[in-house]
Amino acid sequence: MIIFAGIFKFSYTKCSAFMNVLIIGSGGREHALCWLIKKSPYCSKIFTIPGNAGTASLGENIQLKVDDFKSIGQVIREKAIDFVIAGPEEPIVKGIEAYFSSTEYLKKVLLLAPSAEGAMLEGSKDYAKNFMERNSIPTASYRTFTKEDYQAACDYIGNHALPLVVKADGLAAGKGVTVASSYEEALSALYAIFINEKFGNAGNKVVIEQYLDGIELSVFILTDGENYILLPEAKDYKRVGEGDTGPNTGGMGSISPVFFADQAFMNKVRSKIIEPTLKGLQTDGIAYKGFIFFGLMNVKNEPYVIEYNVRLGDPETEAILPRIDEDFLLLMKQAAEGHLKQSEIKIKRESSATVMLVSGGYPEEYEKNKRITGLEMLEQVTPFIAGANANEKHLVTTGGRVIALNALGNDLNSALSKIYSEINKIKFDNMYYRKDIGQDVINLRE
Ligand code: AMP
Ligand code: GLY
Repeated sequence: MIIFAGIFKFSYTKCSAFMNVLIIGSGGREHALCWLIKKSPYCSKIFTIPGNAGTASLGENIQLKVDDFKSIGQVIREKAIDFVIAGPEEPIVKGIEAYFSSTEYLKKVLLLAPSAEGAMLEGSKDYAKNFMERNSIPTASYRTFTKEDYQAACDYIGNHALPLVVKADGLAAGKGVTVASSYEEALSALYAIFINEKFGNAGNKVVIEQYLDGIELSVFILTDGENYILLPEAKDYKRVGEGDTGPNTGGMGSISPVFFADQAFMNKVRSKIIEPTLKGLQTDGIAYKGFIFFGLMNVKNEPYVIEYNVRLGDPETEAILPRIDEDFLLLMKQAAEGHLKQSEIKIKRESSATVMLVSGGYPEEYEKNKRITGLEMLEQVTPFIAGANANEKHLVTTGGRVIALNALGNDLNSALSKIYSEINKIKFDNMYYRKDIGQDVINLRE
């Protein structure tokens, strides 16, 4: 691993011995978090479980599963870790917060992760829709069906306007949603979930909802459960192919800011969505210290919630964190302590863009273990490692999403041209990326 420590070009503030931090996760989001935390003068040492080549260049990786709470607890003791930040949803949904608060030593360790009850906002679409309905939060109209209601669900589809959206209730790795433009498509999505049990228990319920016609954006907050900080918004490019075609992926790129998220629109997001969500959580007595990711649709300048996530987005994080001009470690610490002291943060005015380099074939079958070269040649671009690790000799691919390349620029065009002019310095067999990240937004503005 050590041989790659020198290839990332970062300018760090010198760390004074203060906090040992553990990040849980292994993607580009976690590398970007480590990268920003490392700039804090309060950062002593960074550990990542399990991490990747990027996080290894900034601290120490420890090879454990993200839901192996017992072993994670032992590492926290051994390494005298002061602060733990959960990156992906898995440890959150599986109850890391309850494990910490019920374990003598871990009780005293700061943790930024919502409770498993809070994570239901992401873990069950039916729960989230019900929560929004109860709290008058704008969202698409819907009905939920269980397997026993299979025939009623078919009838509901038959009487619904097209297009319509069929969603498996539980976590389905982003694959549980079908936007159907015909009744046949909707019915076969329903059949796959209920009869073929394509998503196992995640498909015990199905949400059928109205199609919202608009432009999507991702909005993020950091909260202590009561107070919150609005982070920069972003737009994610989910489809694998140019012009938003082909299957959904974890995300092929992202940009921030999003031009239509102006003051007037964001005021509506705050008053109609963010604040009622926090109030709803408080009313339900749900402890929530962490991030909320609002997947929104802008329909004629009105925001609607498509989904909640209880974590930061990936690759949105790799576009928004470079715009944050604050000690983010300190802000996360305050949220975890339950005392966020400020409500506004300094955001750089520059535009940020991120393009994901992926293994050819992703999101379907793809090969791993391909040697990656050229990272040391990047000049104006920051690489966040998403799926790569060092073997004895080389940096090699370990995932579908391999490297997120980020650049800041005076405007979106300039950020993108920095990335696209350097992108071919990086090479690995079957490397693929979208050449049109941000282009839809540039076209809309013209
Ligand atoms: P979700 O997992 O709920 O975010 O859905 C995945 C994707 O499906 C979203 O990012 C949207 O592009 C699309 N989608 C989900 N729900 C709707 C809806 N009600 N109207 C339009 N598109 C939707
Ligand atoms: N980029 C979308 C997500 O993180 O869910």
